[in-house]
Amino acid sequence: SKVTTVLGIETSCDDTGCAVVDSSGKILGEALNSQQQIHLNHGGIIPPIARDLHQQHIEHIVEDALRLADIQLSDVDAIATTVKPGLPLSLLVGMNYGKHLSCKSGKPLIPVHHMEAHALTIRMVQKVDFPFLVLLISGGHCLLAVAQAVDKFLLLGQSLDDAPGEAFDKVTRRLKLRNLPEFRALSGGAAIELGATKSLDAQAFKFPAVMTHYRDCNFSFSGLKNSLRRRILQQEKLHGVEGDEVIPDVFNLCASFQMAITHHLCQRLQRGMEFVALQDLLPPHNKTLVVSGGVACNGFIKRALGIVCQEMGYSLAVPPPHLCTDNGIMIAWNGIERLRVHAGVTHDLDSVDIVSK
Ligand code: KG4
Ligand code: ZN
Repeated sequence: SKVTTVLGIETSCDDTGCAVVDSSGKILGEALNSQQQIHLNHGGIIPPIARDLHQQHIEHIVEDALRLADIQLSDVDAIATTVKPGLPLSLLVGMNYGKHLSCKSGKPLIPVHHMEAHALTIRMVQKVDFPFLVLLISGGHCLLAVAQAVDKFLLLGQSLDDAPGEAFDKVTRRLKLRNLPEFRALSGGAAIELGATKSLDAQAFKFPAVMTHYRDCNFSFSGLKNSLRRRILQQEKLHGVEGDEVIPDVFNLCASFQMAITHHLCQRLQRGMEFVALQDLLPPHNKTLVVSGGVACNGFIKRALGIVCQEMGYSLAVPPPHLCTDNGIMIAWNGIERLRVHAGVTHDLDSVDIVSK
């Protein structure tokens, strides 16, 4: 069949991304502007600032992706853009620019669900057939679902409060980890992972088991986050730590916290897998778990999830780190998948709008 090409735009949070991808899974061109460093200086994302930065960068990011792909806008088959979920002000920038490009070129627009795009990215790099189980762990989300088709997902569970990446980001700030030079430019999750590798005792601090009485597949991370905050306060008092100083036991805290988060993820995942077996949701001899989202960059978490998979008879599939975090590639690829089955592809631009949740 004919090779198709899609241009994808992502602006749902703090990355302005654009990529041109073809139906063979080849990335023809990609460009990404991360706002991470700017938001780190503010201690978190301020939505109007994120919007302004998207607006400043969207045009040249799209131009860069097209130039690197050595392709004209008139030669792509469609334009895909994230419309949900995310920060409304941020989403609007990408969606409106996508509409503008669609209008200018006469190519159809494909509205994309950010989480579905994370879930299907793996199919760009490796053969994974529907249905499969997918765990999405990022700074904004934590959910477990069965991916049944390009546009059909059965949600098994999600976080009742914080996302795991959000918990990592918040405690990294509280631990003042970025006062240490090696950690300055790292995301929260990457900082905790690096800190944990420097720990001599990952059992130094114990955390309470989470949600053990809940007979569902939901997650909760705010209890662990608050319990770490209390530990930090105790340690600061104990050692008389003030101002910009970092507590002496910081690496053991990183390792213990990463362990507690990982334990909870594994425990809920295993529940999910038991539910899947009970309900016959996956073919018993061909079960795959896909893990994606920024937290799926974490090597420790990946290895632990791999052990659960081995125990439960699943194969584990995780995209390479640069495809786990937010980017335009996954949006373009979702466009390719949707174009293939004619799902949501439209010329009626007025029918496309953002949805923040
Ligand atoms: O998917 P993503 O780029 O954006 C969202 O949609 O949220 O994920 C960003 C999140 C951040 O919270 C960051 O701390 C986390 O992914 N992250 C990690 C690692 N690298 C990034 N979490 C754990 N370990 C890592 N190595
Ligand atoms: Zn994401």
